[in-house]
Amino acid sequence: MCGIVGYVGNDKSLEVLLGGLKRLEYRGYDSAGIAVIDGDGAMNTRKRAGKLSVLSDDLEQAPIANGATGIGHTRWATHGGPSDRNAHPHLGDDGKLALIHNGIIENYAELKQELLNDGAEFESETDTEVAALLIGKAYRETGDLTSAFRSVVSRLEGAFTLLAIHQDEPGVVVAARRNSPLVIGLGEGENFLGSDVAAFVAYTRRAVAIGQDEIVTIRPDSVLVTDFAGNEVTTDEFEVSWNADAADKGGWPSFMAKEITEEPAAVTNTLLGRLTEDGVHISELDDLGEDYLKAIDRITIVACGTAAYAADLGKYALEKWSRLPVTVELSHEFRYRDPVLDERTLVVSISQSGETMDTLMAVKYARENGAKTLSICNTQGATIPRESDAVIYTHAGPEVAVASTKAFVAQAVAIYLLALHFAQVRGTLGQEQVQHNVAELKALPDKLEQVLESSADIAALARWMTDTDSVIFLGRNAGFPVAMEGALKLKEIAYIHAEGFAAGELKHGPIALIEPGQHVFVVVPSPRGENSLHKKVVSNIQEIRARGAVVLAIAEMGDAEVAANADEVVRIPLAGPLFEPILAVAPLHIFAMELAKAKGLDVDQPRNLAKSVTVE
Ligand code: AGP
Repeated sequence: MCGIVGYVGNDKSLEVLLGGLKRLEYRGYDSAGIAVIDGDGAMNTRKRAGKLSVLSDDLEQAPIANGATGIGHTRWATHGGPSDRNAHPHLGDDGKLALIHNGIIENYAELKQELLNDGAEFESETDTEVAALLIGKAYRETGDLTSAFRSVVSRLEGAFTLLAIHQDEPGVVVAARRNSPLVIGLGEGENFLGSDVAAFVAYTRRAVAIGQDEIVTIRPDSVLVTDFAGNEVTTDEFEVSWNADAADKGGWPSFMAKEITEEPAAVTNTLLGRLTEDGVHISELDDLGEDYLKAIDRITIVACGTAAYAADLGKYALEKWSRLPVTVELSHEFRYRDPVLDERTLVVSISQSGETMDTLMAVKYARENGAKTLSICNTQGATIPRESDAVIYTHAGPEVAVASTKAFVAQAVAIYLLALHFAQVRGTLGQEQVQHNVAELKALPDKLEQVLESSADIAALARWMTDTDSVIFLGRNAGFPVAMEGALKLKEIAYIHAEGFAAGELKHGPIALIEPGQHVFVVVPSPRGENSLHKKVVSNIQEIRARGAVVLAIAEMGDAEVAANADEVVRIPLAGPLFEPILAVAPLHIFAMELAKAKGLDVDQPRNLAKSVTVE
């Protein structure tokens, strides 16, 4: 959940570290700190509670010396609340070693007791300081940082990415990772480390992902990767597919605003290279093989939060077109309920960051129990794709705002592509049906652009609702997951109690919540098609309005019946019944952002949250 940066090369550590932390701040922002070994070989550290800007201002007021070796950290607190003393880096007992950490050391209490018994004194309440003291102590025995790491890290349990520098070893940064992200940035006469490529993409797009239980030693002109036993391991270099500008706000008032406007491009780029004359071909699935795709008898999708709602939405198309039974499970529930899995179960994980610990552990569990795994991920080189049998990358570009928006539409489209790929391999859809659905997919970006053009009206709506303290979202069939996603957005960035329900569920309890003035968003299905649920949902609207609800409907252009029954209508272009829900999500993203803005809240870095939940 934290952002970490390491640098070794020229006398510009301060710029690299602070710039990298700025790009990583979405990963955690309750405190920040840096450590630099300056030209005189002295260790200089500074750390402050609060956002990165507090540290930057402090360094403006009271600068520290620059240097060619440094580490930086922006924190999402786990052990020990946000404070100067709990901020990273933490020092070894002689002050010569500085260490930062992303993750949770689960056996820190017993290790701490061992150190206390040895007379150690602790400055902080963190688990991280235990690692700093242990490695600092080991350094005095080994005389070099890499060996000191090797003698300690295998004793640590849980999830950690550790970075450290030592005053007696300038020009060296050592790191170790277990169940937590770490990538290397390869430069010319300089090298970088980061929790993700945003840490160094301004300097290099050459990257190397680090595997489980590995130690990295970087120097200006060399990179050494070994396992915890010291055996050198081979690594795979990849090129970051986006440039530094993509990770910047680019003049937008917030990353969320920028990323919502990128929803059409996220769809376009996720479709790229996967549409053929005949329909769909996802070449990454060749890693699983056509025989396997024909042999499986069910699909389980594991994900959390917004990714889980994208899965719920994708399930309608995946089951309908592939005729495979599909279940969607919250990752953190899945592996603890002893699910039935076998070699004919495909477990698909969906994760924007590719680092969500709950989903990573679910993927590992699936593989340990005989299932093959497919990752749908938006971050190249992330841990979950590397732990999967195959990966379909969504090419939405970096998503920095904590509230996921463009990734949601990209994930849904990726599942629709998967569904059509399965339908062709298994012969469950005719050529004409495939082509029809491909045409719908191709039309989505333009239709999303049309929806975004109406965002001014939605902003006006939001400003009208700033004193709202409760909002209900209703949807039916594929609109139901969209209602759930709309509720989540309002919770996480406008801090409003919002709840999504299947519209058909109203009469089974939730309608008791309706009282005069209750705001209700309704995602209305198209009235076209013989199986349309439109009339049922219009009835729901009439039932709740009869009880005083204020209804804001999202409905296709020209739907007159809804206009006659709702207080406000936000229009979306006509599309197929499985495609309109993808269009309906954009107004809900905009609404949540505008309401949060109207309430004066930070839409990009909402309280208590972090972009990537890398602890269980
Ligand atoms: C979504 O707006 C939230 N930030 C959160 O629910 C997120 O979707 C969830 O933590 C999963 O993240 P992932 O896609 O990176 O795995």
